[in-house]
Amino acid sequence: MAKIMVITGASTGIGAETARLLAEGNRIFIHYNVSREAAEQTASEVQERGGTAHLVQADLSGEAGCNALYSEVSVMTNRIDVLVNNAGGLVQRQGIRELEWSLMERVFALNTFSTMLLSSLLVPLLEKGTDPCIVNTTSIAARHGAPTATLYGAAKGAIDSFTRGMAAELAPAIRVNAVAPGVIDTPFHERYSTPQRMKQFQENTPLKRNGQAADVARAIQFLVENNFITGETIDVNGGLFMR
Ligand SMILES: NC(=O)c1ccc[n+]([C@@H]2O[C@H](COP(=O)([O-])OP(=O)(O)OC[C@H]3O[C@@H](n4cnc5c(N)ncnc54)[C@H](OP(=O)(O)O)[C@@H]3O)[C@@H](O)[C@H]2O)c1
Repeated sequence: MAKIMVITGASTGIGAETARLLAEGNRIFIHYNVSREAAEQTASEVQERGGTAHLVQADLSGEAGCNALYSEVSVMTNRIDVLVNNAGGLVQRQGIRELEWSLMERVFALNTFSTMLLSSLLVPLLEKGTDPCIVNTTSIAARHGAPTATLYGAAKGAIDSFTRGMAAELAPAIRVNAVAPGVIDTPFHERYSTPQRMKQFQENTPLKRNGQAADVARAIQFLVENNFITGETIDVNGGLFMR
């Protein structure tokens, strides 16, 4: 039976690659915020791979956007099987000495609160799904100190904890896991990292390369398909951080 999936931030990068990888035979809500053209491209690739795509626009840095995404999905389906909470971003590099309240709110709203609220809103639809699961997105920045990305790391660290809490609370009905990407070569770093910084990341990584979106998408696929894993966060980082 076709799975019904919601993938947030599926216009570019990891989310888009996950939509392409999971497309075959499935029905996918492709969420985006500003990158409409890229989202249309993802949708047409999902269709080429034998899936059905619905585009949904919402700004997830606020409560209204999360509610709007929920409303759009719930008028089109009364069940979902997979929720991938992938939308997120660093927002702004900022040193600890210059932290401002408004920046803290923006970073946590986009990376933490949106995942929390969307998950909460969509649980009733997931409960009607088949082998339903949620996959969240944290970051290597939550694992070790990441100077100028400390806020972002803390916001993702909250998702790591939220993942385990939800997994315990929603079991056995819904599995909840997460991926923690390392340095992945996506539009994310076009905004936040210089080419020199990217080269340095690569040199510091034991596997001597930065990741590709597909490296993370394959881990998400694994978590969707393996139904004896819950409360786990899989690191996909080329060894840059080892637990
Ligand atoms: N790349 C890395 O090295 C790395 C490492 C660790 C964790 N991550 C995490 O992995 C996830 C995917 O990132 P990526 O690397 O694939 O970067 P990306 O290509 O920049 O993708 C980010 C996605 O999030 C969406 N998004 C951003 N701001 C939004 C907002 N206000 N409302 C709704 N959606 C919004 C974007 O949509 P629009 O473009 O349509 O606005 C886009 O689809 C993020 O949660 C990121 O924090 C990435």
